[in-house]
Amino acid sequence: MTVEYVPGLAGVPATRSRIGLIDGQKGKLYYRGHAIESLAATCTFEEVAHLLLKGNLPSQAELDGFVAQLRNHRRLKFRIIDFLKCLPESGHPMDALVASMSSVGMFYPDNMYPDERDQRWGAAMRILTKTPTMVAAWHRIRCGDEPVTPRDDLGHAANFLYMLTDREPDPLAVKVMDVALTLHAEHGMNASTFAARVTGSTLADPYAVVSAAIATLAGPLHGGANEDVLTTLRAIPKGGVRAWAEEQVKHKRKVPGFGHRVYKVKDPRAGVLQKLAGDVFAKLGSTPLYDVAVELEETMEELVGSKGVYPNVDFYSGIVYEKLGIPTDIFTPIFAMARTAGWLSHWLEQLENNRIFRPSQIYEGDRDLEPKAIGER
Ligand code: COA
Repeated sequence: MTVEYVPGLAGVPATRSRIGLIDGQKGKLYYRGHAIESLAATCTFEEVAHLLLKGNLPSQAELDGFVAQLRNHRRLKFRIIDFLKCLPESGHPMDALVASMSSVGMFYPDNMYPDERDQRWGAAMRILTKTPTMVAAWHRIRCGDEPVTPRDDLGHAANFLYMLTDREPDPLAVKVMDVALTLHAEHGMNASTFAARVTGSTLADPYAVVSAAIATLAGPLHGGANEDVLTTLRAIPKGGVRAWAEEQVKHKRKVPGFGHRVYKVKDPRAGVLQKLAGDVFAKLGSTPLYDVAVELEETMEELVGSKGVYPNVDFYSGIVYEKLGIPTDIFTPIFAMARTAGWLSHWLEQLENNRIFRPSQIYEGDRDLEPKAIGER
């Protein structure tokens, strides 16, 4: 059978799934059939994570049990903290997260190679709930501070902000973080989820599965873009948005925060985040970067809107996080904290009906060469 080669596997189905659906033409995103806008407006991240992992929005009793499990597993072994302390403080938080995530599994041999569903569930809970602790701990350590012990009386978003800052989190900041986690939790067969499914299909341990996904997310064409958006907005000369954007488009340079392989209209998550940005600025005061961002969005629509290039989720997330005082290089780790719910859902789904991924290639190299003697090469 000859199969056409499709660069980047664009549009090629890699699996059957019941988890996330994207309608790129209409700008809609659904988690297990629920529109993202409704979930962001009415559910906490914990409810959304339950929906993704278990397949249903939890009843109160189910939610209580789920939240209790998450809170129970938040702490890190002191050796993981010691390990983080040994990494160079100039290292990127995504690299620290890849390293610490892959090491966690060694402490839990019972669910490192899980055959049974409850072992898999145990690993999923640990990974989901320890990721924010690792992100916050690394940030504290590199600043010369001791990591902050997680609190059992706080929700997932509030506890993360508390561990990051060692302060009682502001309710608006908690709301924004909670919604941002929901918006980033799942997105169909993107590069990092594909990496998770490929790694999971080998029956690798789940900590390695998520570690591979985090490493894949770190690239600037994927999750790393939200960091680049802020760097870009800061670099645009005052009053020069149009001239700057025209220059980028003329030279076919990709503007971070714009364009998407699937969405050909504005990313629905960008719309929700833009509204949240409005709430944050109303309370904390606007930022000149927001005005630049809005002008850039309008200009880009004129210049490349006809190619289906519109703001994606990363465009407004960084502006909001910055206003909350979150360091730029923690933006992608926050994305990873959220997407862990999606990766783990795909890992669980993959193992329900597993077949190891083994695509083919079109070989274009030489054949039947004889090795020359070393002096003749
Ligand atoms: N800025 C300016 N032009 C862009 C663009 C961007 N961010 N993204 C795509 N385009 C243009 C391309 O230059 C191309 O134009 P052409 O047809 O005249 O050659 C056209 O739109 C199609 O681009 P293509 O690279 O084929 O799209 P893709 O689906 O392969 O790439 C991304 C999708 C996300 C990789 C790409 O849009 C990108 O690099 N965006 C910036 C990084 C980013 O924000 N990533 C986060 C994604 S959530």
